[in-house]
Amino acid sequence: MDAIAELAALLSVDRVLTGDADLAHYGRDWTRWWTPAPLAVALPESIAEVQALVRWAVGHKVAIVPSGGRTGLSGGAVAAHGELVVSFERMHRILGFDPLDRTLTVEAGVVTEAVQNAAREHGLIYPVDFGSRGSSQIGGNVATNAGGIRVIRYGMTRAWVSGLKVVTGTGELLDLNRGLAKNATGYDLRHLMIGSEGTLGLIVEATLQLTDPPRDPQVMLLAVPALDAVMQLLTLMRERLSLVAFEFFTDKALVHVLAYGGKRPFEGNSPFYVLLEYENPDANTEAAALAAFEQAMQQGWVTDGVMAQSQTQAAELWRLREGITESIAQYTPYKNDVSVRISKVPAFLADMDALFAREYPDFEVIWFGHVGDGNLHISVLKPDAMAKADFERACERVTGHLCDVLERHGGSISAEHGVGLLKKPYLSRVRSEGEIVLMRQLKRVFDPHGILNPGKLLDA
Ligand code: MLT
Ligand code: ZN
Repeated sequence: MDAIAELAALLSVDRVLTGDADLAHYGRDWTRWWTPAPLAVALPESIAEVQALVRWAVGHKVAIVPSGGRTGLSGGAVAAHGELVVSFERMHRILGFDPLDRTLTVEAGVVTEAVQNAAREHGLIYPVDFGSRGSSQIGGNVATNAGGIRVIRYGMTRAWVSGLKVVTGTGELLDLNRGLAKNATGYDLRHLMIGSEGTLGLIVEATLQLTDPPRDPQVMLLAVPALDAVMQLLTLMRERLSLVAFEFFTDKALVHVLAYGGKRPFEGNSPFYVLLEYENPDANTEAAALAAFEQAMQQGWVTDGVMAQSQTQAAELWRLREGITESIAQYTPYKNDVSVRISKVPAFLADMDALFAREYPDFEVIWFGHVGDGNLHISVLKPDAMAKADFERACERVTGHLCDVLERHGGSISAEHGVGLLKKPYLSRVRSEGEIVLMRQLKRVFDPHGILNPGKLLDA
């Protein structure tokens, strides 16, 4: 029996895909930088099937690329070298809610939005949130320690995982932390798996911690005349309000979003915008928000502002920020996803601005991101007339210089998108040689045959 026939016998014929369209669809993520070329796609429906697939892969020396919603932006879910893509889309059951623990246990393929909705049905929230909530899956979120738009208040995915089931590179099933709030029994392997980008194990199930919803959240959009005013605003607003989100984008980004609909939030345009969301626990909040706004106007940090008067208007304002990624997707952007400590943001921004003005004079550069977390997304758009290979070379050269700036400010080359293939060449600029050696050794412990997402994050 050949390898593919064996696979079909392990699952069923209709859950092993080998058609060209399927290979192209499942073999790539949102990066769009690599040409997909997997061997096949498997759609397991149970943990036992995932274990069987891993054993098959070991036996046949075939690499596995775990696949969630494939909304990643660093090439972590790309299969370009004859790998078996293991898609978790058929493992999409919500297995249980516990009101006392306030946890939801889900299979890896449950879509983020479905988790959020399930939490809401119980009067709680799963607070990790981002634009791709409608397609991304929990397994992928955990594998990349996804962040998003509410990290300033709730932290990253890591903070909300109280249990994980993981299949290692030998097919062994690990049941990590089992939903415990306290567990002082040595190395917490759960946290090693979170953010490991599919290189140490396949996440098959997660127990997620839920929390109370924010009280009556309000949304405000501010027109900001200068980059350095953004951080002054953060200090002011964080002092006065209970922030749930503090996001920033430029007018260049807004222009792309508006090309797909919607109207300008203010009469004129402003070079920068800040979108903030805050809790409104009592009657004093509105007055506090207005007073903070007036102070910001007097200081010259803000030139205009709008406070959403309804949920619909709040959603329209959020669309101006969340619509950016989709609105620039057609330009195959090169994405930087950098972070520095919040206190370093002003000096870092000035240096990065100077670098890009010098190195990218002819490219359109779109700035936006979670500036309240010290995390900026800088998307460089490929000019139509430029060959993809030339564009890639130019971006890689500038990213090398960006690493110098990051090193000076103690920052990271990937705040939340992950390393994958895209940022792998720069890992050694932000992690020490000693750390990388240990990471390689850890990979060999969990994946001795080197079959789990090889070539992503680090080389063996
Ligand atoms: C976002 O914050 O919108 C995402 O991380 C996506 C992106 O950088 O394009
Ligand atoms: Zn982001």
